[in-house]
Amino acid sequence: MKKYLVIGNPIEHSLSPTIHNYWMKKYKLTDSIYERKKVEKKEVGNIVNQIRNDKLIGVNVTVPFKKEIIPLLDEVDNVAKNTLSVNTLYKVEDKIFGYNTDVPGFNESLIDVDYKNKDIFILGSGGVTSSIIYSFINKVNKIYIANRTKEKAEKLKKLYSYSNTQIEVINWGKKPTVCDLVINTTSVGLKKDENLDLDFKDYENNNDVLFYDIIYSPKETNFLKEARLRGNKTMNGGMMFLNQAKIAFQIWTGITAEIDQEVLKLLD
Ligand code: ATR
Repeated sequence: MKKYLVIGNPIEHSLSPTIHNYWMKKYKLTDSIYERKKVEKKEVGNIVNQIRNDKLIGVNVTVPFKKEIIPLLDEVDNVAKNTLSVNTLYKVEDKIFGYNTDVPGFNESLIDVDYKNKDIFILGSGGVTSSIIYSFINKVNKIYIANRTKEKAEKLKKLYSYSNTQIEVINWGKKPTVCDLVINTTSVGLKKDENLDLDFKDYENNNDVLFYDIIYSPKETNFLKEARLRGNKTMNGGMMFLNQAKIAFQIWTGITAEIDQEVLKLLD
């Protein structure tokens, strides 16, 4: 049996097994199985060793290990190097490689959105935020970041100090002038009743602005619900999630999986 895994902590909510097992069945990889495993920090090295010994073929990495797994790997791709974030592991010619498929997955989700030279407001500075910022640098006019713990936002600004795009850190609870794209990368909203408690009254009836939440379950967080009721455009993290999975699946199997109606339904 070829075994694949997603590791993280917590991990119960992850739909990665559902998606990958669906594709494995669809593309007749009957010798493959994808599971989830909650791991502690001290166990992460053991997971990497299992890839080395072919006990595991491919692994997805999620919160909180995307950064701390990097020193355990032999090589990482260019995007992972820049973002300090790895979400996909695979052995290539005896080397354990780390890839970042969050960035291309996120870019793919924005394929129909014109954000060139626009202003972006990013909420949060957690594990995935560096990938979101990296997708925008040198493409947009300005990026504002706000995080409850301001130092983490300052760190991200520093990480991209080489970029041509201006990055400004905003105090949590404060807002920049009206932006074209407002993105929630915090974990607030994963539980249905959670709310960011930020005031977006100045976005009332503004149908040009897109509010994007990288959370895909629940489908509509309060952040998105309020935006919809205000008259803004909204998008959840479903397409980013499916596209990062699609790219990981391609790395592991060489198969370009289709994001079909069935797979979309699996997110419900
Ligand atoms: P980690 O903090 O380990 O990177 P994460 O899930 O990747 O975990 O990130 C959680 C993000 O949600 C962080 O930006 C976090 O803010 P802090 O850096 O201040 O912790 C944010 N977050 C979580 N709960 C929050 C809350 N109640 N209000 C505002 N932001 C919150």
